[in-house]
Formats: sequence, structure tokens, C-alpha cells
Amino acid sequence: MARVLSGIQPSGKLHLGNYAGAIRQFLDLQAANEMFVFVASYHALTSVRDPAVLRDNIRQVVIDYLAYGLDPERTSIYVQHDVPEVTELCWLLSCVCPVSQMDKAVSYKDKVAKGLAANVGLYVYPILQAADILAVDADLVPVGKDQVQHLEITRDLAGRFNHEFSSEVFKVPSYRLAPDADVLPGVDGEKMSKSYGNTIDPFEDEKSLRKRVMGITTDSTPMEAAKDPDACTVYKIFRAIAGKADARTLALAERYRAGGMGYGHAKQSLFELLLDHFGPARSRRAALVRDPGQVDAVLARGARAARDKARATVDRARNAVGLS
Ligand code: ADP
Ligand code: TRP
Repeated sequence: MARVLSGIQPSGKLHLGNYAGAIRQFLDLQAANEMFVFVASYHALTSVRDPAVLRDNIRQVVIDYLAYGLDPERTSIYVQHDVPEVTELCWLLSCVCPVSQMDKAVSYKDKVAKGLAANVGLYVYPILQAADILAVDADLVPVGKDQVQHLEITRDLAGRFNHEFSSEVFKVPSYRLAPDADVLPGVDGEKMSKSYGNTIDPFEDEKSLRKRVMGITTDSTPMEAAKDPDACTVYKIFRAIAGKADARTLALAERYRAGGMGYGHAKQSLFELLLDHFGPARSRRAALVRDPGQVDAVLARGARAARDKARATVDRARNAVGLS
């Protein structure tokens, strides 16, 4: 049994890409491992400036986790700012992190290029992420492809700290990508992302969800013509959710290749798939929204478990550097 940790920042509402790249792995892993899954609230502060929005986003992410099927009996679910020890670890790690390593991090440059303010928090974002992971001595971190560089930085910082302080304070973690590790496209065909306004939220009400799916950008190949499924966003999303080898995916690919099917039909199939696949999660979510007390209890328990681990790690780290 491995200790597994991951998190998502509440910089907006979660979407199908977060499910396909991250959350589905959490669900696969929770049965056989010791799991910690958190909401990266401090990280979101690198970009969110409205406290009411931040508070609501944090809450919605927790409810989504539970609705998707994270089981608080198996998984410690918590919000990052309930484990403030990670900020102290972040400082200790900052002191062994070469500036050149942050300069090489692509997500900072990408985010600034997209218009995010270039604050120091955003710049050292990967160090705080390393602290989250190292705080609980995680063995394994399931993430989407875009997080690989952050995991490499984490591994490097853990090794560097241990080496510079001649200690074994930190466990060097591995990471795990979703088995179908493709990046899920959004309704415009670009990477689906909270910050691009191109997401699909499987928990939206039926009418809005249908409208969203019907709005996916497709090319102008006429109805009669044969089509290449692999070039179509509708098919790519269908395949990611149903699975590559699923009979429904194979049948849909056949209909593309045969011609005579318009994109409207493919979209209708995707809409029906989403209702079917997320039906149980949608019902669970509706129940959770009506029971805020349950959500609070889950978070309190999760924070206690994570904080116990983080305190022990901070004690070891302080000792190693001479701050005991
Ligand atoms: P966003 O780009 O929407 O802000 P995050 O950066 O918060 O998403 O990512 C949270 C998790 O979801 C990460 O593990 C990330 O790799 C995964 N993820 C995000 N978008 C996608 C996508 N379009 N396809 C696959 N995985 C994704
Ligand atoms: N960077 C991740 C994201 O964009 C969130 C995150 C913060 C995280 N700390 C982490 C992911 C630790 C895995 C492990 O969503």
C-alpha cells in the first residue's frame, strides 16, 4: 500500500479535463492506497482576488470531490490552508532552491503570457506544491501531464534538502499520469482549462450541459462525407470519458468513418454519454449541496490526518537545519 497525495487549485469550477486527467486516477487509487486529496487554496491566491469567489470555489471543489466518489472513509480530504505547516516547509525548501530552477519552470511563463499578474507567489508556486507533497511523505502523486515539471522539481528539492543537510528528512516521491494521458480538449478544441472559458462541467443542469455540448466547435465537413474521428473534438471527449476500447466509442468512430452522420448526432451521443456516465455523481452532488454539515465534518477529519503528518515532517526538517 502506497501513500498517495494530490490536489487541484480552486481557481475556478472543476471540469471534464480535471476529471479525466486527475480525479479519475484518485478514484482508481483510493481502494488500495492511503490517500490524501486536498484543495490547493493557497495556490489559488496566486490568481484569485475576490474572497467570496475563492470561498465558494473551495467549497465547490470539495463537493465535487465527494460527488465524484472520493470516499472520506478511505481518503483524507482537506483544504490546504487548514495545514499551515506547508507554508513553513515551503520556506525551508525555498532556501535550498536555486533561482535558476524557478526560472526554468514553464507554468509561470505560460500563466504570465496568459495575462496573470507576475507575483512572487506565482513564481514560487512549484515550491509550495513540493511542500504539499513532501509534508505527508507521499510515495505517489497522480496528476495530469502539465504537472510533470512540478513533480520533477519536487523530487529535486527533496533530494537537494536531504543532501545539503545530510539528512533523510524527505521521501522522494514518484508521479503517475492517467492511463490515457492525452490532454482533454475544451469546446474550442484547445486544452480544456479553467482559465480559458472553454470547459464542460458535468454537474451543470441538463439544459445548460446540452447547450455546452452542442456548442463544441467542429469543422465544416458536410453531413454525407466520411469523417476522421481522431480530428474531432466531440469524438476525443467521448473517447476520453467512455474509454478507448469501449463498444460505444468504437461504434461512434465507425459512424464517423461511414459518412452520413452530422456532427449534431455525435454531439447528442456525447450529451447522452455524459448524463449516463455522471448520473450517479450528479445525484450525489445534489444531496451534498443540501447537507453542508457533512462536508464540514469530512474536512475537519481530513485536516487532522494531514496535519499530524505535516507536523512530524516540519519537526524533522527543523531539527535537520538547526531550528529545533
Ligand atoms: P486548469 O488548467 O483547469 O486550471 P489545473 O491546472 O488546476 O487545471 O489542473 C488540475 C489537475 O487536472 C492537474 O492534475 C491537471 O494535469 C489536470 N488537468 C487540467 N486540465 C486538463 C485537461 N484538459 N486534460 C487532462 N488533464 C487536465
Ligand atoms: N498545481 C496543481 C494544479 O494546478 C495543484 C497542486 C498544488 C498539486 N499542490 C499539489 C497537485 C500537490 C499535486 C500535488 O491543480
